[in-house]
Amino acid sequence: MTRLRLLDLVKPEVLSLTAYRAGEPRPGLIKLDANESPFPLPEELRKEVRGALDQIDVHRYPDAEADQLRAVLAAQIQVAPGAVVLGNGSDELIQLLLLATSAPGTTVLAPVPTFSMYELIARAQGVRFEGVPLGPRFEPDLPALIEAIEQLRPKVIFLATPNNPTGGVFSEAEILKIVAVAPGLVVVDEAYGSYAGRTMLPHLVDQERLVILRSLSKIGLAGLRIGYLIACPALAAELEKVRLPFNLSSFSQAAAVVLLNHHAWIDGNIREIIRERERLMGRLGAISGVEAFPSAANFILFRTTRPGAEVFEALLQQSVLVRNLGSVPCLHNCLRVTVGTEAENDQFIEALTKALG
Ligand SMILES: Cc1ncc(COP(=O)(O)O)c(C=O)c1O
Repeated sequence: MTRLRLLDLVKPEVLSLTAYRAGEPRPGLIKLDANESPFPLPEELRKEVRGALDQIDVHRYPDAEADQLRAVLAAQIQVAPGAVVLGNGSDELIQLLLLATSAPGTTVLAPVPTFSMYELIARAQGVRFEGVPLGPRFEPDLPALIEAIEQLRPKVIFLATPNNPTGGVFSEAEILKIVAVAPGLVVVDEAYGSYAGRTMLPHLVDQERLVILRSLSKIGLAGLRIGYLIACPALAAELEKVRLPFNLSSFSQAAAVVLLNHHAWIDGNIREIIRERERLMGRLGAISGVEAFPSAANFILFRTTRPGAEVFEALLQQSVLVRNLGSVPCLHNCLRVTVGTEAENDQFIEALTKALG
């Protein structure tokens, strides 16, 4: 019997991919590379979380349906618990959506540049990914999108709004136009929606092909790995069939239930980050050799006249870590900085001014 070589056992679709690199932890740096919140849990919340974790029976499986967490989230956004599907981060929900809807050879579409996992997950499943370029300043190009949708008939369209890494948004009217022509699902990824102060949630009741993706990662709870999807209950029930049981650990569920009840802490941090984003935008605009793009998220994309890789290294030399996006098509000399605390943002601006000086 002939045996395949080890790597010939791996599907060609997977062999052709490049792994998502989140970057290694680098202690001591000002970490502005991953769109996380800069605010750690205050001591009284840590204590409350510790109390909840203490109750966990770790020899038992978690609640497979995460009923308590689902109920808290559903109540907060005022939808039926049956409309909510929970994921180990919204990454997992992207995977689950494509697993449930898109056979190999079908097409998914997104404006590009955008969050790289849409393409990676699609291609790993043998699904075609088609990117439609955003405009020259990364604004939505609705005519191009509609033409591509009519031509390619995608099963799923991903619209990240605000978009990562560009920071721009689609208006409600633009999204509704896309929903009106889409032959399949339109997934509005609101991972950064809290920083834009807008949501498509009210449209779910009369737009059954609309799906909304949310995440707790960008609002201060990245370590919990919790994402959620809201869809019409009939679709949510089908997605539940391909969700792995126990995908959220008992620890994540318990901590999230405690922390989601502390709206004031979460919302106060969001307001502070929005204030800092506007301040940072003003300061970036004052540095010559920098073009910053408008952002409604908790990060800002900017282009430098000096080669981006050199700017990235110069910032790193000064202990500031940002994301270098120079290898992404259309993003030459572009870097993305996450909005940090006031002091971190000041250090970043000082380091960038030196790097370009
Ligand atoms: C637009 C967008 N969607 C989804 C995600 C995934 O977030 P998570 O899996 O942490 O919920 C990210 C993470 O960077 C993102 O930028």
